[in-house]
Amino acid sequence: MNILVLGSGAREHSMVHALARSPSVHQIIACPGNVGMSGISICRRVPFKDNAELVRYCKDKVVLAVVGSSKYVEDGTVDALALAGIPVIGPAEDAGRIETSKAFASKFIARHHLPAPRTHIVVNAVEIAAAFKADPKIRVVKCDGFSHGLGVAVAETLEDAKSAALKFLKRHGAPLILQERLEGVECSYTILTDGQQWVSFSSCRDYKRADDGETGPTTGGMGAVSPSPDLTPELDRRIVETIVQPVVNGMKADNLLYRGFLSIQLMLTAEGPKILEFNARLGDPETQSILTRFRGDLAGLLKDCAMGCLTSVGSEVAFGRHSAVSVVVAREGYPDNEATDPVVRGFDKICDSLVFFSNCRRSENSEDYRFKSGRLISVTAVGETLEEARDKCYKDIARLELDRVKYRLDIGQANGSGLE
Ligand code: GLY
Repeated sequence: MNILVLGSGAREHSMVHALARSPSVHQIIACPGNVGMSGISICRRVPFKDNAELVRYCKDKVVLAVVGSSKYVEDGTVDALALAGIPVIGPAEDAGRIETSKAFASKFIARHHLPAPRTHIVVNAVEIAAAFKADPKIRVVKCDGFSHGLGVAVAETLEDAKSAALKFLKRHGAPLILQERLEGVECSYTILTDGQQWVSFSSCRDYKRADDGETGPTTGGMGAVSPSPDLTPELDRRIVETIVQPVVNGMKADNLLYRGFLSIQLMLTAEGPKILEFNARLGDPETQSILTRFRGDLAGLLKDCAMGCLTSVGSEVAFGRHSAVSVVVAREGYPDNEATDPVVRGFDKICDSLVFFSNCRRSENSEDYRFKSGRLISVTAVGETLEEARDKCYKDIARLELDRVKYRLDIGQANGSGLE
């Protein structure tokens, strides 16, 4: 079969890599893809202008479209492909609001009695004042929609939380979501669902802060480990019973047609796992760790899902006991003060890892990659243990020729905390 992969980052590079291992895949069309994918012989990169052009191109050519970024959910690309009869891995725009609108997600959580931080949805200064009076434990302020990482404030004091709420109201508008701050360890739990059945796509610990020891500014992600070292079989069972199955049931009850990956960001608290947020997609760099561990016919499974005929419920599909570690190499100064012209060379010296490229290009007369984003590559290794995967990954990074870049040294380290 011919498969379309939508996106241009390291996440989509790892999707193309995993799909290329499926026996049923004849060709992968990456739209727009990136030049790092050129090593995968069955992958063609095709630019696209708009949804109409994409649908025209795909009609009668691809049997499955796989969406990377939720941008394609929000801008209607998923709906346009589905309307043209192309099976898609990615939710319809209304079901995708579980990620794209935090107010929608909070109402969904409340309606289905799911475990989450205490939450207030407010629309003006009077309601903000009333919420803080009723609940002096509020410390987290979120705006409703996408805000390029600037839409969440975690305050130390009540006063700081109040002023963040008023600032957010002015900057982002209503509604705002006000929450208590949870203590614990973060864990991301991913499922693939066709809206009726679901299969587990394992767990991850991701490292959001720029610097070692979870310090520095929040980033898109500096690394990920899969499975999460914090997830015991007992916790896994509890997450399935109290969160995953009720979420899938809730979407069915609400008539939301959700077909695709759903990553549930959790805080593992002393009272049990609680939902921080939903991502209507696989995360980046979480995908790189998860899919590198996957053993099986990914394309076949995704096609069944997109057609609404997933068969197995709940079991973790085709993941062995292996661990994967993915370390992001970013521009020096990322995310606040990024260096220009970072150098990343020497890929032929890599022994035991896979390198997934973020959006980049290469000029005809140069071997060097020119990157468009702050995050450059994800170096990903699999091992029988987390320690083995980590060791392979960092040894390979040391073999690269790097300049004007940064990466964390504590991804997957026993005491390298993913704690918030
Ligand atoms: N790594 C976080 C995300 O993909 O949203």
